[in-house]
Amino acid sequence: MDYFKTRITRMEIPARDHAILRFSGDRPVDGEPGQFVMVRGNWGAHPILPRAFSLVEVGKEGAILVRNVGEGTNLLASMEQGDELLVLGPLGRGFSLPSETGGGVALVAGGVGVAPLVFLAQRLADKGIKPVFLYGARTGDDLPLRDQIGGICDLTITTEDGSVGEKGLVTAPLERFLQTNPTASVFSCGPEAMLEAVARVSVEAGARCQVALESPMACGMGTCKGCAILDAAGEYRYVCTDGPAFESVEIFGREP
Ligand SMILES: Cc1cc2nc3c(=O)[nH]c(=O)nc-3n(C[C@H](O)[C@H](O)[C@H](O)COP(=O)(O)OP(=O)(O)OC[C@H]3O[C@@H](n4cnc5c(N)ncnc54)[C@H](O)[C@@H]3O)c2cc1C
Ligand code: FES
Repeated sequence: MDYFKTRITRMEIPARDHAILRFSGDRPVDGEPGQFVMVRGNWGAHPILPRAFSLVEVGKEGAILVRNVGEGTNLLASMEQGDELLVLGPLGRGFSLPSETGGGVALVAGGVGVAPLVFLAQRLADKGIKPVFLYGARTGDDLPLRDQIGGICDLTITTEDGSVGEKGLVTAPLERFLQTNPTASVFSCGPEAMLEAVARVSVEAGARCQVALESPMACGMGTCKGCAILDAAGEYRYVCTDGPAFESVEIFGREP
């Protein structure tokens, strides 16, 4: 698979320190929820490595959400409409959509983990499924993409400082949801500590949970071995090719 050349068609600033980049090239952008792309601007030799981003939208235009945390994301966030963007993907294994969703579906997001879950929410909406979307952040300023969620999901926001929505952690509304929907399918993406807590709460309730990991990666294609993690069985797994979406029990096991 090769990088393909695209141009930025639109840039938006949906929240403090975040940018949505839309891009298109001479072929449609393909992919499934949970898959990602490696992205690099035409900014010369440094930084040489591309950066990984979950797909938010595919089609004639692709979209990614960028949180500005360092060198590469800073450069991406300062790009402009018309600038060249090199894109490799779609990469990795996305979420596996359940054939049976009668027990309910919960999407649980933290931080930029919202990106693949907004894509998944759209796919579920296309199938006539309206999940609950539990979206946790530190403050009300850290909720990019929230406007894309409300129309297609039952949205509950939690913030640690209580500035928007319910004060506390996103696992609190998940526990309430699972009390009445113990056989739900849970999909989650966010910081690892949050994923571990979501996995524990889900497994305790008897629900199936899939988690998408965001481990740092260099090649995105299984070559560099830089994204290796140890799974619950003590085996090495490569997040870029075995994941980034996994059954939570594969990574965190079944024990609370
Ligand atoms: C499969 C996958 C999907 C991702 N999806 C998104 C997304 O949709 N939106 C988004 O904004 N980011 C996403 N990321 C994270 C993104 O790739 C990193 O934030 C980015 O590579 C940081 O590059 P940088 O040059 O700006 O930061 P650097 O200057 O390289 O690092 C800045 C700081 O960020 C930390 N860091 C770097 N990479 C990661 C990472 N992967 N996870 C946590 N901390 C990191 C570094 O340790 C350092 O503290 C994803 C990562 C993966 C692997
Ligand atoms: S990022 Fe290179 S092997 Fe996974």
